[in-house]
Amino acid sequence: MNGAAAAHAAPGFDVAAVRRRFPVLARTIHGHPLVYLDNGASSQRPTAVIDAVNDYERHHHANVHRGVHTLSQEASALFEAARDSLVGFINARSRHEIVFVRGTTEAINLVAQSYARPLFEPGDEVLITHLEHHANIVPWQLLREQTGIKLVIAPMDTRGEIHAGQVEALMGPRTRLLACAHVSNALGTVLPVRRLIAAARERGIATLIDGAQAVPHMPVDVQALDCDFYAFSAHKMFGPTGIGVLYGREAVLERMPPWQGGGDMILAVSFAKTTYNRLPYKFEAGTPNISGAIGLGAAVNFLGTLDLDAAHAHERALLARAEAVLADVPGLRLIGTAAEKAGLVSFVVDGVHPHDLGTILDKDGIAIRTGHHCAMPVMEFFGVPATARASFAFYNTFEEIDLLAASIERARKLFA
Ligand code: ALA
Repeated sequence: MNGAAAAHAAPGFDVAAVRRRFPVLARTIHGHPLVYLDNGASSQRPTAVIDAVNDYERHHHANVHRGVHTLSQEASALFEAARDSLVGFINARSRHEIVFVRGTTEAINLVAQSYARPLFEPGDEVLITHLEHHANIVPWQLLREQTGIKLVIAPMDTRGEIHAGQVEALMGPRTRLLACAHVSNALGTVLPVRRLIAAARERGIATLIDGAQAVPHMPVDVQALDCDFYAFSAHKMFGPTGIGVLYGREAVLERMPPWQGGGDMILAVSFAKTTYNRLPYKFEAGTPNISGAIGLGAAVNFLGTLDLDAAHAHERALLARAEAVLADVPGLRLIGTAAEKAGLVSFVVDGVHPHDLGTILDKDGIAIRTGHHCAMPVMEFFGVPATARASFAFYNTFEEIDLLAASIERARKLFA
């Protein structure tokens, strides 16, 4: 098999076969097989995505929506086919609801500036939770400076859980928007988003879900969730960087003004007046990331070739294995022990700074992320400056988890 030791497949899921579809997993790092456990930061790309981007760049590149010539027609068709794949992937109602953006961060900023800024009055409230990524904090602070809104923070408990009842208790007459993660990037907590969205809707509160860490790990159906907005990035779901999606309910997007002005988002421009393009192009000013979108479409199609239920079951098994083996490492404390978690573990080890741990693990070929994970309020809550985080994808193996534990133990002894 590729990379690290032979895989144990969860029933119905052939990990070795899946690994062969990701060329980088065959690499060695410092003489060791790569053990890639930094999927929360960015996952690896399968050959199908690399080939789709390569084919586009070699044979079909031209600008989209702008040319009658063959290459432009081909590029436009590939770009729009990617959008169609995304409609199915999250069960949007139509392609009008899929806006290509740079990633989750840009999607949230778009909602803050184009949805919230024109509508919200001083004293209106945006409700977020304590475990949000900076991308779901700072855009609301910018909005607060611009409009005088209030930012209300729902609490987290010591396991890193968010309790729906406590969030609902903060939904008041001035709450205009609930913006929260589906899955915490720093802790792995899965939030009760379905219940939160239903509670918000009952009260006429709009909803935005940061799904960056959810879409690679669980089925997401925006109609079943019934949210107004859902944001995610391609590079965490086996696609390229620099491209992502803002899903928006069509009726809501229709009422929003464009965020940025420029080419492609217009139907007609004169110095007196501009008529905006229809959805979703109204929100896609300028030449888009064409190859990125095509790569994202290829990632969706690649996922469609897998038994995703089995893949997700395998990830849950990886998490259980990690929690079990790390429990045996003396001085290791898991940060984030929610009952429902996606496949990642954040932890600290007595006497070893996370950055030192990351460096030693790298020498063993193991890639993890160390730091504050762009979630400094979470670090502050747990009283740590940083954690080490191992985040899994379905191509990881139980043996890799064991190698992680052994390498942490080695680091611990080195610093003891
Ligand atoms: N948000 C990414 C992470 O959690 C970069 O690592």
